[in-house]
Amino acid sequence: MRKNYLMTPGPTPVPSEVLLAQARPMIHHRTPDFEAVVRECVDGLKYVFQTKDSDVLIFASSGTGAMESAIVNCFSAGDEVIICFNGKFGQRMQLIAQAYGLKVCVLEFGWQTAVDPAAIARALKEHPDARGVIITQSETSSGVLNDVQTVGRIVADYPDCVLIVDSITGIGAVDCKTDAWGLDVVMTGSQKGLMLPPGLAAVTVSSKAWRAYERSTLPKFYFDWKKYLKNLEKDTTPFTPAVSLMIGLAESLKLMREEGLENIIARHARLAEATRRGCEALGLELFAPAEGRGNAVTPVWVPAGVDGKKLVSIMKNKHGVTIAGGQDDYTGRIIRIGHLGYFGDFDIITTLAALEMTLSELGYEFEPGSGIKAAEAALMERE
Ligand SMILES: Cc1ncc(COP(=O)(O)O)c(C=O)c1O
Repeated sequence: MRKNYLMTPGPTPVPSEVLLAQARPMIHHRTPDFEAVVRECVDGLKYVFQTKDSDVLIFASSGTGAMESAIVNCFSAGDEVIICFNGKFGQRMQLIAQAYGLKVCVLEFGWQTAVDPAAIARALKEHPDARGVIITQSETSSGVLNDVQTVGRIVADYPDCVLIVDSITGIGAVDCKTDAWGLDVVMTGSQKGLMLPPGLAAVTVSSKAWRAYERSTLPKFYFDWKKYLKNLEKDTTPFTPAVSLMIGLAESLKLMREEGLENIIARHARLAEATRRGCEALGLELFAPAEGRGNAVTPVWVPAGVDGKKLVSIMKNKHGVTIAGGQDDYTGRIIRIGHLGYFGDFDIITTLAALEMTLSELGYEFEPGSGIKAAEAALMERE
């Protein structure tokens, strides 16, 4: 028998309360029982998205469905949009926008650079007819956190331009104030901070985004936001929902309310700090820049002379600890330790212990125990 630990930035571990809720016998979705579940999910999601003003819609899809929904519901073919990215997932929005015939102005930053809000302000001056600014808050591929609060202030001056934020690894890990920061569309997926299996996505839609919807002529059916809104008014969904996942969501949202959003955000900051300090103590170099480090995932450079793919494989196959490798150009060059969602102190300690043992096996020289020691100190400091 080997005990396994899932330390990836999605899917993330699911608490037993949520697993048990999902294991209940199936119920029919056109019933008062399920309507109560829908109400709990919407109310709870409004709490985690920090919104009272926006509508929250839930889809049976992965996060990419929510991304595509934002494009087809806000725009028409030929509309100009500004897409800023510093990693793989931000770039996906460019691909979706192009697939739907939008005119895309790309602000590309390196994977190790936070998006510069001043560049967005300049782009909006140069493209005053832009109908949207699209940005990833927490870039999973690079671990960089982008300042969507400042971007919200900038886009607020453009009444016909919506701000679309991919917070798929942000919600439930870092602060994301939908209303207070003027974020028109914010999306998340279930397999991240919401502590569920993959398969659900949610978006918030502000009144400005609804105005964009009224103008939009792109074809839409499954992801047509109005269909979801009309049904939500009756506490139901337009199509057969992912019943078990929504029952699980109601449970995970209950857990999140019990902990409190501020405490959840503080817990992520503390675990991320312990992970960073532990890795640095081992002589490993952090990938994300100091001014833009997120708390959902910690990417770290694989040290010279160590085979990054082997590292990930030994961690998983020998020690039972699954971490993520790098993506695209960084495949085999970085590792990514996820700590978003259902994570506690000893997940970090365990992972660093497995990392130390693996690095030793791969011939990397360091002071054994130094990573765990530094992480423990960081955890005790911020208790
Ligand atoms: C920031 C971000 N955006 C978008 C996605 C895509 O979501 P999905 O794989 O659920 O479709 C992910 C998935 O990891 C992500 O981390």
